[in-house]
Amino acid sequence: MEMTYDFSTHIVPLTLAISQVKGDVLELGTGSVSTPLLHGLCMFTKPQRKIVTLEENPSWLGMMQKDFECPWHSFRHALCMESVLEFLESAEWKFGVALIDQCFDGSSSPETGMTYGSRKRCAKVCARICDVIVIHDSDYWDFKDDEDWNSFVESFKYQWKFKLTGPETLVLSNVFDVKAVLVDSPQGVLS
Ligand SMILES: C[S@@+](CC[C@H](N)C(=O)[O-])C[C@H]1O[C@@H](n2cnc3c(N)ncnc32)[C@H](O)[C@@H]1O
Repeated sequence: MEMTYDFSTHIVPLTLAISQVKGDVLELGTGSVSTPLLHGLCMFTKPQRKIVTLEENPSWLGMMQKDFECPWHSFRHALCMESVLEFLESAEWKFGVALIDQCFDGSSSPETGMTYGSRKRCAKVCARICDVIVIHDSDYWDFKDDEDWNSFVESFKYQWKFKLTGPETLVLSNVFDVKAVLVDSPQGVLS
């Protein structure tokens, strides 16, 4: 049997980011890996952090909402990219960490059938409202050889790429030296 870790290769940078960077959390794309992980990690932080999860698939939205919705973890149906961008642009939120792991729309990967266009568009908005952004599958075809994307990534003061096996995860920040804070001396900025 061939093992695949594709759905969970973001858990190390995501866990480090949530543990070390304070503030509310934005999750784009729900699922059985990131949603319970983020929810469980945020249960223990004081003051209570808020999580906002956006999901386009009504089945996944319903399943996760049933298990995790509570006063500090809200779920929104991402009806279309425009509504997502409108929400992010207009939100009064300032997030500590955002996970970008959705497939709201965009071009389909010939390898996986998944979509990454929305990850790029959301990352650009998140760069303005989030201290740290964690982008899963950042070495997939759609990100490669895209000059606009590469120059967006290069525009960040701090970048860290994590790859153990399977898809890479890219961590970007203009606020924290992410590799130093998350990996080299992880005493953290949470007090
Ligand atoms: C890459 S998945 C998101 C995974 C999620 N962030 C996590 O870490 O669990 C992208 C979309 O696929 C759907 N999805 C979530 N978990 C899935 C799974 N285990 N298998 C297939 N599709 C899934 C949801 O609609 C989700 O927004």
